[in-house]
Amino acid sequence: MNIDACIFDLDGVICDTAKYHYLAWKRLANELGFDFSIEDNERLKGVSRMDSLNILLEIGEKSLDEETKLALAEKKNSWYVEYISVMKKDEILPGVKNFILKLRENNIKVALGSASKNSMRILKALDIVNLFDCIVDGNRITKAKPSPEVFLKGAEELEVSPERCVVFEDAAAGVEGAKNANMFAVGVGDANVLNKADKIISGFENLTLEILEF
Ligand code: BG6
Ligand code: MG
Repeated sequence: MNIDACIFDLDGVICDTAKYHYLAWKRLANELGFDFSIEDNERLKGVSRMDSLNILLEIGEKSLDEETKLALAEKKNSWYVEYISVMKKDEILPGVKNFILKLRENNIKVALGSASKNSMRILKALDIVNLFDCIVDGNRITKAKPSPEVFLKGAEELEVSPERCVVFEDAAAGVEGAKNANMFAVGVGDANVLNKADKIISGFENLTLEILEF
């Protein structure tokens, strides 16, 4: 196999935290006097917190100053943190843990590559911090996906070359980021949304290492 490492997105790949992000954004939209649909929410996947707020405000046709925006992002995050604070270990998506364990048994390195600043909190709740050789998240990057930064940093820390990395992503921006990093991209979800991915899977249940054969 010509793969040395796998890099996993967090929200929507390892756990279904996308639903909690949606609940918190919807609550904020409602408070601001407009609605926010599940379809609108697709545009926020993989997108940083402030960029997500800007998209939300564009949908609600609101124009606000920077200070107000920072306060609103903070408010959304406090609700989100409240939702994820009661997350249990069993909220890890089916098959993910086994798949990562299989990678480790086969000496394939494992990294997290997430835009979230809450990633540590989530990994701890799921009790999987130790499964990762390296964790790159929203606290450690300056450019959001589709920039390749988060993935390149992961490869660098793992001391592997980008062309020998596979990224697992559920967001179009994330798949693009992986391709911009010159890595293989496995899309987790809908092939129509993730049309730039090299391969598509619906989830990790019963997934074998054959997926890493490119
Ligand atoms: C990404 C999510 O993983 O992280 C986005 O897909 C989210 O929806 C982004 O906005 C930032 O997350 P956080 O937890 O730092 O607000
Ligand atoms: Mg995601």
